Amino acid sequence: GRDLLGIEGLIASEITGLLDLAEEFVELNRQVEKKRTTLRGRTQINLFFEASTRTQSSFEIAGKRLGADVMNMSVGSSSVKKGETLVDTAITLNAMHPDILVVRHHASGAVALLARKVDCCVVNAGDGAHEHPTQALLDALTIRRNKGRIQGLTVAICGDVLHSRVARSNIILLHTLGAKVRVVAPSTLLPSGIESLGVEVFRTMEAGLDGADIVMMLRLQRERMAGSFIPSVKEYFHYFGLDEAKLRRAAPDALVMHPGPMNRGVEIDSAVADGPRSLIREQVEMGVAVRMAVLDTLARKLPNA
Ligand code: CP
Repeated sequence: GRDLLGIEGLIASEITGLLDLAEEFVELNRQVEKKRTTLRGRTQINLFFEASTRTQSSFEIAGKRLGADVMNMSVGSSSVKKGETLVDTAITLNAMHPDILVVRHHASGAVALLARKVDCCVVNAGDGAHEHPTQALLDALTIRRNKGRIQGLTVAICGDVLHSRVARSNIILLHTLGAKVRVVAPSTLLPSGIESLGVEVFRTMEAGLDGADIVMMLRLQRERMAGSFIPSVKEYFHYFGLDEAKLRRAAPDALVMHPGPMNRGVEIDSAVADGPRSLIREQVEMGVAVRMAVLDTLARKLPNA
């Protein structure tokens, strides 16, 4: 369709098509001259109601490398602070004739709601605990480049699954491409009914990491927890933090991922995060290429493209 609101609903060939196109942009991004003209004359607005380092900056770089005029809305100093609603903000920006809106919001479903109110393409850059589709795409690209495939791999997604849009988008994408997905978390950080997504559930790292090809750690999202439910960081790290001892349970050639931002010493030990098995920096590089692939694909569907 006109928007990218989630991985849910995409078929395998659409996902691999985006990954194949992103491979071309990985090569382009390593050259001195990085610019293309697919989005020349187009206007892209990044509208982030939640903090971001990786997603917002890579969407800005991606849009500029494709030739778009990119505007970053500063929500903190916008009229949202005066009580203007999400929908009124969207309608206001829509009147300026943007071609692409990239939106992050703290409420699940907010980006889909906004998409119904505007005429342009909308890309979900993360909505509540629902979806973060470009994160799952960049993770898949990183896995495919390092393992040569997705099909048949065992991926263990570990930690705060309850609050994680990254986990949800990854589970859907990895299943669509034929991987086996495990989730590893204490019961308090698992959404009820998670089994209905077809994952195997483990409540200890020792069991959940056994023989895994990919160990994907999640940030403990303490800002989304009510006071008394925040676990002790020391205890959490002891049971669920990834260190070298726990990683030894995984396959001998297992690789480690984290979407960022990391809480070092909470869900991941620095020795692992910065160690030879870590793909964390490569994930960031793939983020720019994947976002270029998404913007390029959507741009080709714009009127007069
Ligand atoms: N992984 C991710 O979405 O990071 P940011 O919150 O920094 O964009």
